[in-house]
Amino acid sequence: MLRRHFLSDLSRYAVLCAGAPNLWRLTTRPRLDGNPFTLGVASGDPTPNACVIWTRLAPDPFAPLGGMDGSRPVVDWDVAEDEGFSRIVQRGRYTCAPELGYSVHVDVQGLAPDRWYFYRFTLPAGSSPVGRLRTTPAEGARTPLDFAFISCQHYEQGLFTAFDHLAAEDLDLVAHLGDYIYEYAGADERVRRHHGFEVVSVDDYRARYAQYKLDPALQLAHQRCPWIVTWDDHEVDNNYAGLVGENSSESAEQMRQRRAAAYQAYWEHQPVRLPRAQSWADLDITRTANWGSLARFWVMDTRQYRSDQACGDGNDVVPCGEWNDPSRTMMGAAQERWLVDGLGASRADWQVLAQQVMMAPFDMRAGADTLLSMDQWSGYPVARDRLLGAIAERTRGRTIVLTGDIHASYVNDLHAGFDRPGRPIVAAEFVGTSMSSGGDGYDEYPSWAATRADNPFMKWHNARRGYVRCRVTPEEWRADYRVVPFVTRPGAPVTTATSWRVRRGMPGIEQL
Ligand SMILES: [Fe+2]
Repeated sequence: MLRRHFLSDLSRYAVLCAGAPNLWRLTTRPRLDGNPFTLGVASGDPTPNACVIWTRLAPDPFAPLGGMDGSRPVVDWDVAEDEGFSRIVQRGRYTCAPELGYSVHVDVQGLAPDRWYFYRFTLPAGSSPVGRLRTTPAEGARTPLDFAFISCQHYEQGLFTAFDHLAAEDLDLVAHLGDYIYEYAGADERVRRHHGFEVVSVDDYRARYAQYKLDPALQLAHQRCPWIVTWDDHEVDNNYAGLVGENSSESAEQMRQRRAAAYQAYWEHQPVRLPRAQSWADLDITRTANWGSLARFWVMDTRQYRSDQACGDGNDVVPCGEWNDPSRTMMGAAQERWLVDGLGASRADWQVLAQQVMMAPFDMRAGADTLLSMDQWSGYPVARDRLLGAIAERTRGRTIVLTGDIHASYVNDLHAGFDRPGRPIVAAEFVGTSMSSGGDGYDEYPSWAATRADNPFMKWHNARRGYVRCRVTPEEWRADYRVVPFVTRPGAPVTTATSWRVRRGMPGIEQL
């Protein structure tokens, strides 16, 4: 943890210095004399014939532009069938640009389906670490899929021990559901409230990504296989909704500028196949990813297009205010249409909603009152039941919802609607815990046992850190909750806390 505090302070220092160029000139090392690949490599958004490979040149990671000097260096890249690079299948050159933070995104084409490859980047100063990538099976194929999903990696709140364990698993993919960074520093949210250490400019966000990307366990997990990523709120601002920030003191125009900085830095640091937006503030992260004809991932964004939270951002007894106003939206009309129409058209065995906030409405108060989170789908009940109704009609019994955000694990049956009890089960929700957010955590939250009778659709809960490993076949979806007992000191072992199964076409989740 000492290392963590040191790096946290260093990052804060970097953020402060970003506004003081003279100070930087005195304190930064000479340009480009070190390793430019300090932030590692990554691959992502695989298809049957292509995959994105990523790195970012940053010889001095906390300096503006990562210590680069404003020039436009050319990076060589290679993709090979073997780790020794004796059978190279694709190679090319990429010109880096200061206006994109010296990030490198290559969409490598012409690969064979369902195959592993190795990739690296090279400059005169040296070569990057070697990463592995994998193409997806061709359309029609039903190769089993082994993947893990994760979220919420607050750097100062714990070590990324679970990433070391994840990297040792035999995985085809990793799905990241957001909170890749946190916009405020420090282990304690009260620090933020009182001192307001928040990143705002694009240089701030770049320094924050650099801080996280220096973590060896995170780098190793990226090196091992392709990732499919989406963002949650902390990539921009806690609990933001569209152009409404957490602090009502920020105007819509200020939020627009902040979103532009945050979305640009996100794009610069992730292995994504996303066209650069006309305006960074409008970057659209929604997209699909197919695993042959076995699974289609719907990568969603429940932050950028949502209505502002009802009755404040916290938990409220319902009904309250505009909570159940039918005009309120979680995804925005365009994303909702894209998803609902797409579910109707897709023939893949499994439909996978890779998204952020919990869909099952957790009533956190025992007894007659219903106390719900206004930030989750429970705060948008009409939009939630409209989506669940569409799933009931189109992809009932073969839809899996993957969720992050709340630093705790839950296993939930999803019904065709939660407006009244007794509607049929149509989908399964696996809520993963955090990588480190919230520190060591708990075996269960105190509210859990007291409210079991109020939430019969919630099957299991745990609040330790870790990830969820899934094995997917045409007949069955299996989810193993992999947890570590602590993250505030190194060396935690990983165990499987529980395993669950969904049989395709059958309602309800079963514990194994
Ligand atoms: Fe989080």
